[in-house]
This record gives sequence, C-alpha cells and structure tokens, in this order.
Amino acid sequence: MEPKLKPLEVVAISVLLALWSLINRANAMPQVPCYFIFGDSLSDNGNNNNLPTLARVNYQPYGIDFPQGPTGRFSNGRTMQDFVVELLGFQQYMPPFAHSVGTNITNGVNYASGSAGIRYETGRNLGARISFDQQIINHKIIISRIRLSMRNNTATNSLLRRCIYSVQIGSNDYINNYFRPESYATSRRFTLPEYATALIQQLSLQLKRLYEKGARKFAVYGLGLLGCTPDAISRYGTNGSLCVDRLNEAATLFNDRLKPLIAQLNTNLTDAKFTYLNPTGTQADLATFVTNSSCCITGGGGGELCLRNSQPCSMRSQYLFFDGVHTSEAWNEIIARSAYASNSQLQASPVNIQQLATL
Ligand SMILES: *[C@@H]1O[C@H](CO)[C@@H](O)[C@H](O)[C@H]1NC(C)=O
Ligand SMILES: *[C@@H]1O[C@H](CO)[C@@H](O)[C@H](O)[C@H]1NC(C)=O
Ligand SMILES: *[C@@H]1O[C@H](CO)[C@@H](O)[C@H](O)[C@H]1NC(C)=O
Ligand SMILES: *[C@@H]1O[C@H](CO)[C@@H](O)[C@H](O)[C@H]1NC(C)=O
Ligand SMILES: *[C@@H]1O[C@H](CO)[C@@H](O)[C@H](O)[C@H]1NC(C)=O
Repeated sequence: MEPKLKPLEVVAISVLLALWSLINRANAMPQVPCYFIFGDSLSDNGNNNNLPTLARVNYQPYGIDFPQGPTGRFSNGRTMQDFVVELLGFQQYMPPFAHSVGTNITNGVNYASGSAGIRYETGRNLGARISFDQQIINHKIIISRIRLSMRNNTATNSLLRRCIYSVQIGSNDYINNYFRPESYATSRRFTLPEYATALIQQLSLQLKRLYEKGARKFAVYGLGLLGCTPDAISRYGTNGSLCVDRLNEAATLFNDRLKPLIAQLNTNLTDAKFTYLNPTGTQADLATFVTNSSCCITGGGGGELCLRNSQPCSMRSQYLFFDGVHTSEAWNEIIARSAYASNSQLQASPVNIQQLATL
C-alpha cells in the first residue's frame, strides 16, 4: 500500500506544481525572438488612433471582447495577428509603432495602419494613414533603436535574421482606391490585370527593401474575398450572385501573381524564406458562421465601421464579420491557426508559420 498523502501535503504539492507551471510559462521562450507586423486595418492595433482619419476605431463597441476594451483593433476582440503572436509563444502582443517610444521593442513592433496600402495614395479618401513605404521607414527607425540598445551590430544582424516579418496588405489598394473611381484615377489608368501586376511589382520592391534591412523570414498573406463583405454587397450590389464578383475577381488576379512572386523570391534570395498564406478559411470553417451580415450596426467611418457606442450582436462568436469589412475574433482565431499550423498547400505554401519559425 502506498502511503496516503495528508490533505496539507496535497495542498503543498498543488501549490508547488502551480508555481512551477507559472515559472515555466514566464520563462517559456517564444519560437522566434521577434515578430514584426506590416499591414492595414486587419493588423492595426492602435497606430491610427491619433491620426486625422475616418479609419480609426478606438471607441466602443470595438474591443468589447478585448481585456483592455477599445484599443484601435478593428474587431470585437483579438486580431489574427494577436493569435499568431500567442501561438508563437510570446507573452505580450506587439506594441503599435505609434506608442513604441519608451516600450520594450526587442520582441517586435506592429506598424500596420488602417486604410493603408501598397500604393502611397491608397486610403486618402478616409484621411491620414501610414502607407507600406512609410511602415518600412518606421521599421528602419526601430532597427536603429535596437542597434543602439544592443551595441553590437553582429548580434543585431543575427537577431533580425531570426525574426518573422508578417505582411498582409493590398485590400485597400482595391476597396479604398481602384473601386472608388470618384476619388481615384487608377481604374481609368489600369485594367484589373494591369493593376494587379503593378501592385505586385511594387510589393516585390518593398519586400526586397525589408530583406536589405536584414529580414529573412517572411509570412505574406494573399487577399481575402473582397466581394463577400457586407459592405461590398450593400455598396455595389451583387447582380444576382452571392458576392460582388468583380471584387473577388480582383483579389484572385492579385493572389495569382503573388504566389509566383513568393516562389521567385525564394529562388532568387537563397538565404531567405518567403511563404504565402491564404487568409480565407475553408468551406468547412465557414459552415458554422453567419456570413451575410455584420455583427454591429454599421455607418461609422466611411460607412463600413460600427456606429460609435452602438450595441453589437450578442452571439459574436458566430459572426464572420464584426463590422462591414472586418472579421470577428472567432474568425480571426481560425485563420491564425490555419496560417500557423495548416499542412494544406492551399492554406500555407511552401510552409506554415510554425515551420517558418524553425527554419
Ligand atoms: C525586453 O524584453 C526582452 C525579452 O522579453 C528581455 O530579455 C529584456 O530584458 C527586456 N528589456 C528591458 C529593458 O526591459
Ligand atoms: C557581438 O556579438 C557577437 C555575436 O553574438 C559575439 O560573437 C561577439 O563577441 C560580440 N561582440 C562584442 C564586442 O560583444
Ligand atoms: C448582371 O448579370 C447579367 C447576367 O449574368 C449580365 O449579363 C450583366 O452584364 C450583369 N451586369 C453587371 C453590371 O455586371
Ligand atoms: C529573379 O531572378 C530572375 C533571373 O535573374 C529575374 O528575371 C526575376 O525578375 C527575379 N525575380 C524577383 C522577384 O526578383
Ligand atoms: C442571412 O441568411 C439567413 C439564413 O440563410 C437569412 O435567414 C437571413 O435573412 C439573411 N440575412 C440577410 C441580412 O440577408
């Protein structure tokens, strides 16, 4: 017979175990030393809060399911990037560049800005924004700060090589540029295939600039189904289809050029690894979600955002869209898990984020 533990001993052991797991959690190393986020409102976590733009959401009901409430995240809770950061084992979300002075930036920074695009003028219809080019300039500022604090260029270069650089951008080059002919001339200057080619050429140069600044691990996202958002459907009508076909066609043209770009970059820049991630879930994922309406009452921002202080739907985890264009926390988690761990080449090609981290 084994000796029975007295109740007090059981308590003591439980406390020890709890302490041990707490210590382990605090000391758990993330799978990469740092994670840098470039993009638009899908990734923004506060960079637009103090910009003169309609594309800002530091008000309720945004953040209703986020511990800190409204932070500038364009969702009811965590963004897709927040989930990826958690899955990579970081203890904290990446600070927004706008609030990075005086914060610890050694784990990475979030440069993303709502309404921003690959092109400089994209998003101008809504106001100020931080274009991808400017986000790259901001990254150079952060690199200088890291160099200064590490005081060792060899060590800094080695650190920067091991970080993951996430890039999810391009939606606004369509929905806040090409498909707003009243504000932009691009649809008169380019056909849709020409426009996709021009965007991909510019994106290629931008990714190479990050490479020149020491980046070696790139997670690049394609465009989602731009024509299936509640805002697109109400704005343009579907002419009998389920979605706005021309917007989805635009996204497909873009993605069909992005995938070969990623392959070429992998061939040409042999000491770097680029991977393509699909931000649209599978049909099976979609089946359990309400896809045809927003959770919140829209009309804020340029019409697509939630109305300030409005009451959102109560079953938020069942909605694909929180507002007219941005997805719910529940959906963001599904996409993040797919990007992080999917073994399907349709979702992550050639590798998923977990594999990218170990390379
Ligand atoms: C910043 O964070 C890193 C990693 O989390 C840690 O090692 C470092 O000590 C922190 N630096 C400061 C100044 O807090
Ligand atoms: C700088 O970092 C490298 C690589 O981490 C290390 O080998 C070297 O000793 C460091 N140099 C100094 C002066 O600390
Ligand atoms: C609407 O659909 C019809 C039938 O498919 C097609 O002939 C027509 O060109 C479409 N109109 C627009 C504006 O796309
Ligand atoms: C890769 O290299 C080939 C051959 O030099 C070149 O034609 C192509 O433009 C390069 N692609 C990229 C994305 O740099
Ligand atoms: C969304 O779809 C459901 C189920 O098909 C339907 O009952 C509802 O009326 C639709 N809502 C809108 C706004 O189209």
